Amino acid sequence: MTPADLHLTAAACRKGSLILVNRDHPLREELIPDLVPLTGGWPDQHLDRTAARMLAAAIRAVHGEGQILPVSGWRSQEEQQAIWDGSLTDHGPDFTARYVARPGCSEHQTGLAVDLALSADKIDFIRPEFPYDGVCGAFRRVAARYGFVERYTEEKQDKTGIAAEPWHFRYVGVPHAAILTDAGICLEEYPAFLREAPRVVRLENGRRVQVRYLPFCGTDTTRPAPGPCWQLSGTNEGGFILTVWEGQP
Ligand code: DAL
Ligand code: ZN
Repeated sequence: MTPADLHLTAAACRKGSLILVNRDHPLREELIPDLVPLTGGWPDQHLDRTAARMLAAAIRAVHGEGQILPVSGWRSQEEQQAIWDGSLTDHGPDFTARYVARPGCSEHQTGLAVDLALSADKIDFIRPEFPYDGVCGAFRRVAARYGFVERYTEEKQDKTGIAAEPWHFRYVGVPHAAILTDAGICLEEYPAFLREAPRVVRLENGRRVQVRYLPFCGTDTTRPAPGPCWQLSGTNEGGFILTVWEGQP
């Protein structure tokens, strides 16, 4: 067994950049995200290292520095609890259930979600303005190219359990953001979509990427690596998503 093998374990099933985190799929693993400070937004915000690098690149691509502000990145369980409690006090239970994830059920706790605001004198922390036009619209048009999806849309509210949040973006990685965006599906729908058939995407540099769903059989198993360049993520709903980059970079 080499370290490059695929380890399909119960613990790995609940971790990784593609985990689903929502009311029905709480975080079930103590995550230790690889966090870095976010620059250009509110102080003391952190994000997963890769997500932060890709976010900065996307903002640069649309010349959005100073206009697009990351206002909320990674949150601890305690912070999410404080936001939940504060929202209950300030806005009541209906608003809170629509716009704030229960502690333990927030994507922000993974370090892979970020709330973005258009720079303004006054910014609403829970529902920042992030319009569909101007520089924010330009950001939306490039987001998938940098691995981000707009996570909570009006259309998918019945699936996500959260009201439309035009400001909340989730980093899922480049091939996955393109697949989700092109198929018009949300992360809740992704495992079933991949179970129907493995998908192949061609990146802008011409490289092919295969994406497939692997169910967890209930027993920890090891399989040989599918090639030199691959990534395995748990889904937090009972399986894994395997991404394989073909050929050489
Ligand atoms: N506002 C999103 C749903 C969160 O609290 O994670
Ligand atoms: Zn958010």
